[in-house]
This record gives sequence, C-alpha cells and structure tokens, in this order.
Amino acid sequence: MIEYTTKALSRAGFSGLKNLIHNYYECKAKPLVCKSWPATVMSEPSGNCNLRCRMCVRSAINYRKQGDIDFDKWVKVMDNEFSFWHFHGFIGIGEPLYHKNFVDMIEYLDNRNIWKFLVTNSTLLTDNTIDGLITYNLNRIFLSVDAATKKTLEKIRGGLHYESTMSKIQNLVEQVKKRNSKLEIILQSVCLKENALELPELINLAYKLGIKEVRFQDIELKFDVGWSTKEHSLRGNRNYFQKYIDESIKRAKKFGIDLKLYNMNDYTDIRKNCFAPWNQVYIRWNGLITPCCTTLIDKTYFYGNIFEEHFKDMWNNKKAQKFRALARSNKQPEQCKNCSCL
Ligand SMILES: C[S@@+](CC[C@H](N)C(=O)[O-])C[C@H]1O[C@@H](n2cnc3c(N)ncnc32)[C@H](O)[C@@H]1O
Ligand code: SF4
Ligand code: SF4
Repeated sequence: MIEYTTKALSRAGFSGLKNLIHNYYECKAKPLVCKSWPATVMSEPSGNCNLRCRMCVRSAINYRKQGDIDFDKWVKVMDNEFSFWHFHGFIGIGEPLYHKNFVDMIEYLDNRNIWKFLVTNSTLLTDNTIDGLITYNLNRIFLSVDAATKKTLEKIRGGLHYESTMSKIQNLVEQVKKRNSKLEIILQSVCLKENALELPELINLAYKLGIKEVRFQDIELKFDVGWSTKEHSLRGNRNYFQKYIDESIKRAKKFGIDLKLYNMNDYTDIRKNCFAPWNQVYIRWNGLITPCCTTLIDKTYFYGNIFEEHFKDMWNNKKAQKFRALARSNKQPEQCKNCSCL
C-alpha cells in the first residue's frame, strides 16, 4: 500500500492525498453532503455473462437488455470525471472478463498508478488474459469458486466446466509464481445449503492450488430469486452450517490458509460499518451510477448517468443525499440489511 500511496502521490499530487484523508474522515462523520470525492470507483465492464449461477442476482434481470460498457466512453469518464486519487474494482452483475477490452482497462489504470481488483468466475482466464493481468499489475483477483467437487460446482454454476476452470486457475497461480508477480489470489465462495458440506474441502482445494486466502460469504437475499433465498442461505440455516464452518477454520489453520468469514451476522443487524455511500461509486455498463454492486438492481438508488451528466453534479444530488440519510439511519434499505459485503 505504501508503494501505491507513493505512486498515487506522483499522479494526483498532495491534493489527491488530501482528498483521501478528507474522505476517510467523512466516512466517520457520514454527512449528507460530502466535500471529498470517493476513494473507490467500481466499474461493471459487462452486464453479460457466460454462466447461469443458481444464486446469482442475474436471475432478477432481463438478460436481453444487458450489454458491455463502451470502452472509449469509459476512458473519457475516467480521464475527465475521476481524476482524483482512487482504487478501482471490477465486479458487477455480469462477468468482467467477458468484455473484449478488459485487459485494456487494466492497462489504462496501471498507467495511472491505480490500485485495482477483479472478481471473476475464472472460466475466461485465457493465457492472453493472464498475461495482461500480470503485465499490467492487477493487484488482487477474487476467484469465485463455490464448491470443491465437479458435481456441486457445475450444479451451482450453470455452464461451468470443472476441469477446464481448475486448469485455468492452476495456470494463473503458476504464471504469477513464475513471473514473480505480486498479484494476490483469493478463492471466494458464497455459502449455500447446497455447498456447506464441501466448505472444508474448499480449503483443501485452495491448498492444492497454492492459494493462500479463502473468503466465505453469505448470499444476499433481497431478490428472492433462484437460490438467493433464506432457505438456501447460511443465516437461514445457521445450525446446519456451523460444523462445516468450524471444520473449515480448523483446516485453514492446519494448512496456513487465511480464511475470512464475511457477513455471518443476523439479517436484523444494521450495517453501520458500511462506508460505501461516502467512499465509493459504482458505474454500471450503461453508465448508471449507484453506491455499490448491491444497490444496482433497484432504480431508486441510481444517482444518474455518468455518460450524460458530470459526476460532480451527481455525487451530492438529492438521490445521493437520500441514500446517505437512509444508510446512516435505523431504517436502512432492504439491500443494506441483506447485504453480504460486510
Ligand atoms: C455477481 S458476481 C460478478 C463477478 C463474476 N461474474 C463472478 O461470478 O465472480 C460477484 C460475486 O458475487 C457472488 N454472488 C453471486 N450471487 C450472489 C448472491 N446471491 N449473494 C451474494 N453474492 C453472490 C459471486 O459468487 C461473485 O463472487
Ligand atoms: S455469479 Fe458471476 S458468473 Fe455466475 S451468473 Fe452471476 S455474474 Fe455470472
Ligand atoms: S448494500 Fe451493502 S455495500 Fe451497499 S450501501 Fe448497503 S450495506 Fe453498504
């Protein structure tokens, strides 16, 4: 991080650093109107996906209406609207690697010394893509692998081919090692009733693949579609899950794997620790702006469109202020209550 702070300083100067510090304090104070700019920008390169996962929020959208972000427009937006210091995430309601210019986006951000991460289903990690990710210094990659066996993983992630995906992950790990890359590789799994039994085996799989960090997170339920329901979720079946979680923790210790557990709290918990409305902004493939990848499905939470309006005019508009007011209150939006980001 020190390396990136130094690089960022050379890019955005002391005003960039000042903004970052200011933003940090505004996350604590949670004002309705922010005087600082968000530290993190997230982009959704594509609303399309090559898989059909049973728990995915995609079940709630109209597939035919999705598309890919216009690369030239994206560059223009990054150049003109987000020149302050920032981290950049690629995630979304589709598969980021589905975008034909994905590596160009990483190259663009690398040229500007920006810290960047990617969440991917791992199925499109070709030799060329892996080469690009390493060459242009992607910092962190989350590989979404929700089961240890072929049968369960292919059942959860419709369209995925187990052997081919595992060999791509293996190739990534080998190339990272061979090229002495600092890319952090994290195996990420959503916890479902259907994969609970295999959670401890996922630790073995990570060990076998040479991956040192694993994250488990609960599913989000807000859409009540597919397997994104209480019936399938960890929080709806805590007793059933506990022994598998405990065993996973034990194995992680044994293999020296860093296992992180996300959002294993009850639904009623208020997400007071979320700073997203103050320190980040999410750009959908079609330019719509919203606080995070969890609010993207509800039109109520769109601040506007970055391809049509300036970000500076949206960051504190009425919709942004309304969301901040809700997020810091005891009447948080349903999205926040069911969010699995924390
Ligand atoms: C929506 S996907 C987009 C990126 C990419 N397509 C992938 O699968 O990694 C982002 C992350 O959300 C996870 N996810 C899918 N459905 C979810 C749900 N209902 N609740 C929480 N996370 C979910 C995925 O496993 C993935 O790690
Ligand atoms: S979880 Fe990712 S890979 Fe699966 S359908 Fe959703 S966007 Fe596609
Ligand atoms: S949905 Fe989650 S990440 Fe988004 S603002 Fe709410 S608590 Fe934060």
